[in-house]
Amino acid sequence: PRDFLIAPSILSADFARLGEEVDDVLASGADIVHFDVMDNHYVPNLTIGPLVCEALRRHGVTAPIDAHLMVKPVDRLIGDFIDAGASYITFHPEASDHIDRSLQLIRDGGCRAGLVFNPATPLTHLDHVMDKVDMVLLMSVNPGFGGQSFLPGTLDKLREARRRIDASGRDIRLEIDGGVKVDNVTEIARAGADTFVAGSAVFNQRREDDPHRYDSVIRDF
Ligand code: DX5
Ligand code: ZN
Repeated sequence: PRDFLIAPSILSADFARLGEEVDDVLASGADIVHFDVMDNHYVPNLTIGPLVCEALRRHGVTAPIDAHLMVKPVDRLIGDFIDAGASYITFHPEASDHIDRSLQLIRDGGCRAGLVFNPATPLTHLDHVMDKVDMVLLMSVNPGFGGQSFLPGTLDKLREARRRIDASGRDIRLEIDGGVKVDNVTEIARAGADTFVAGSAVFNQRREDDPHRYDSVIRDF
């Protein structure tokens, strides 16, 4: 039996009170903080960077921070996120000139490394780097925005990714990101995912001033 981890995406959190949002979602039972970094170049949106990651650490967040880098080129920001206290650093193969080198940079900095696959990006990018990844992240929407619908074709791709991971015999997490909701998470888990990113499904439960506002949605996951 696999251990399942829930990773709320703070992209849908209230940025004006981010520390409190992260504290509350972790207190409600979330396992990982999913941290979406967008550069208005690789994806058509602009979000947060290493300063905000560092601020969360300084605020006292000790849970793993999963930095999903949607930036191009990626290498220079890898060092910044290592210094800022990220735990996982994942990037898109299209955003790196030398995938093997970028993965190695992440591990050399003491972080766990992962590759992210857009809906149309083939898993063959894993062929020669299986020994250098700690996480495979499948996008179930095109990256750039929260609140999009889960693309059903991702289920077959999850099954293929699960086969590859199991065949490797390595300890690699299989994360899914985009349109994950309480009512499709079981099907997604059956297809092989073990780490679930959920942005709008979690943070749209916001009710101001109730520190337990995320208890029931995290429990339902
Ligand atoms: C999209 C981001 C996701 C996003 C998911 O590019 O990578 O992490 O926040 O949001 P939901 O769960 O609302 O689809
Ligand atoms: Zn993400």
